Amino acid sequence: MLKPSYPIETARLSLRPFTMDDLEALYAFHSRPDVARFLYWDARTRDETRAALENKIGWAQLREGGDTLNIAAELRETGVLIGDLTLFWRSAEHRQGEIGFVFHPDHHGRGLATEASREILRLGFEDLGLHRIYGRCEARNTPSARLLERLGMRREAHLVENELFKGEWSDELVYAMLRREWNPPEESPGGR
Ligand SMILES: CC(C)(COP(=O)(O)OP(=O)(O)OC[C@H]1O[C@@H](n2cnc3c(N)ncnc32)[C@H](O)[C@@H]1OP(=O)(O)O)[C@@H](O)C(=O)NCCC(=O)NCCS
Repeated sequence: MLKPSYPIETARLSLRPFTMDDLEALYAFHSRPDVARFLYWDARTRDETRAALENKIGWAQLREGGDTLNIAAELRETGVLIGDLTLFWRSAEHRQGEIGFVFHPDHHGRGLATEASREILRLGFEDLGLHRIYGRCEARNTPSARLLERLGMRREAHLVENELFKGEWSDELVYAMLRREWNPPEESPGGR
């Protein structure tokens, strides 16, 4: 069971559950082909974004293995929603979770996805008691791989042509971190 107390504040971000008021801000980046290039979905229409948002709402806590936690990241300075984070509770028995992140390109390259993702790891390890959290990305998704490395995750696998992805065989990278390898942000170089 994971029932975070929201908002979760970091130096520059406020992390909180999604609401229907997030539709336009979410559409602003879910509609972009460059954002969706290495995601399992294609650039979304407004209606598709609304359906995705409806799915996210109500999933701000985890009750049992198999559940998905959806968290919106907004800039504290402006209140604008810029990121969409996920913690999948993959297995209660094996205490495994998976992290996911999608940010608006206008806000890439500032360490904001890293800042938010560290809080997702903290929730998974410290509050949910996970033993291992992993992240997966298409092998050509360099920004995603770099982010997983920046979080301190270990590259455990480079799977070769394991998926038929958007019409072509593609490779996948698997990164992971164990609870005992987790350094809370306060102890990490550069802080939160
Ligand atoms: C994956 C994604 C979230 C990464 O975003 P990002 O902005 O590159 O990630 P970060 O927030 O960690 O920022 C890191 C960059 O900011 C720079 N940076 C600037 N200030 C920083 C700070 N205070 N702390 C850390 N990094 C900082 C880093 O040097 C780094 O740049 P580099 O990769 O050129 O070296 C983004 O590319 C994205 O949304 N992609 C589309 C969706 C997607 O593919 N999601 C992943 C699916 S697997």
